[in-house]
Amino acid sequence: MNSEKEKQFDYMKKAGEIVKERASKKGRALTYFIQTFGCQMNAKDSEKFAGILEEIGYVATDGEDADFVLYNTCTVRENANLKVYGRLGVLKTKKKKNPEMLIAVCGCMMQEEEVREKIRQSYPYVDIVFGTHNIYKLAELVYDRLSSQKRVIDVYDEATMIVEDLPQHRKYSFKAGVNIMFGCNNFCSYCKVPYVRGRERSRKAEDILNEIKDLAADGVKEIMLLGQNVNSYGKTLEEPISFAALLKEAEKIEGIERIRFMTSHPKDLSDELIEVLKNSKKVCNHLHLPLQSGSSKILKDMNRHYTKEDYLALVEKIKTANPDIALTTDIIVGFPGETEEDFEETIDVVRKVKFDSAFTFIYSKRTGTPAAKMENQIPEDVVKSRFDRLLSEVQNISSEVVKRYEGKTLPVLIEQVNEQDSSLVSGRLSNNTVVHFEGDKSLIGQIIDVKLNECKGFYYLGSVAE
Ligand code: 5AD
Ligand code: SF4
Repeated sequence: MNSEKEKQFDYMKKAGEIVKERASKKGRALTYFIQTFGCQMNAKDSEKFAGILEEIGYVATDGEDADFVLYNTCTVRENANLKVYGRLGVLKTKKKKNPEMLIAVCGCMMQEEEVREKIRQSYPYVDIVFGTHNIYKLAELVYDRLSSQKRVIDVYDEATMIVEDLPQHRKYSFKAGVNIMFGCNNFCSYCKVPYVRGRERSRKAEDILNEIKDLAADGVKEIMLLGQNVNSYGKTLEEPISFAALLKEAEKIEGIERIRFMTSHPKDLSDELIEVLKNSKKVCNHLHLPLQSGSSKILKDMNRHYTKEDYLALVEKIKTANPDIALTTDIIVGFPGETEEDFEETIDVVRKVKFDSAFTFIYSKRTGTPAAKMENQIPEDVVKSRFDRLLSEVQNISSEVVKRYEGKTLPVLIEQVNEQDSSLVSGRLSNNTVVHFEGDKSLIGQIIDVKLNECKGFYYLGSVAE
């Protein structure tokens, strides 16, 4: 049987022959560059694209002077869309200088008809357009474009299959994202994700665990389990399994030392998961729990299925079981109908929960979502002033909370040489807080004990423990 996977490997070979021929004409290897917009899911997809492009024979380069440029797009907020159009404009001149250059765009934005139309009409030099449901087809699309003069536009409205075991090129040797599910069924009224990523589908536990075993064998120490709503993982599988049970299985895998996951919807967070957080040695001491708003009225209009009181009670339960846990969150300011009182409720939750950090977003009206049709959209100046107030509140609290480990010694997984000061390395605590300390690149990927000498707001300066 010729499976989709084999078919795609065949395309990698065929596209590879054309790339090899072009490279020998040019007297150098052909290069690729991927720019990722948006979330961890997109970052993970980009590692898959890198794997496929390298299998075809492209070599990574840093910047848009490449022979193959791929933009992996996000459409959660309008800003992200505008950035992509801006960057595409710049590529036009680059392509004039290098007419054989290929430009591809993919990801969430491409699932929208009006975006595809705009690219068709206004960006004729874009060679390949594909969406979120056929990322496994990249080799085929590259081959189609290389072997004809026609641009390739291939977007599916719905997911058809999950293709396992295609190449991946991991950005880090010591940590990796692992998809456990795709799509989202929640339809929060402001959010485009359910429309562009489709219905929720869980990967089989066996496939996930095998991938983690392979990663561990390859030297990976930290994994991040990825899904839009990990707490509903496994419910629709032929052999149903809970997310907490999956974590317990993942924890048994030797070599893996840290397990993270993203994102948890408060409405589905189980007691079983709280127990795992409490008892597990490997599951990190961090929970990202998007609040979105502190007002029960706004939460209802957002279709979040919890109230302010539900959220606070859940946090209480989590903190009672795990007094040390770092809680982080997402908050949207300026959702339609948000009054000053509603906003005060959000501030109230921020003060009560004391998040380690919070991603704060200005509400962005997204066509096609129910919230876009709501009356009472909030004027820009009001939103901006609330946003600034929220940000300063979040920052004040976070610098207090993050400080709680000052003077202590804790294990740090070293991720990179510090970007500003090359005498330092940077890593993370189990609770995700960043630590910088003196060291060199030989430490990257190791977990070592670091004394946290001084908290600088949201990060620490430390030194290797004696
Ligand atoms: N406007 C602003 N922020 C949004 N998010 C999702 N949709 C929107 C929108 N239309 C935020 C939510 C989500 C995060 C990933 O992005 O806070 O948790
Ligand atoms: Fe969007 Fe809500 Fe799904 Fe998160 S849970 S992806 S905010 S619809």
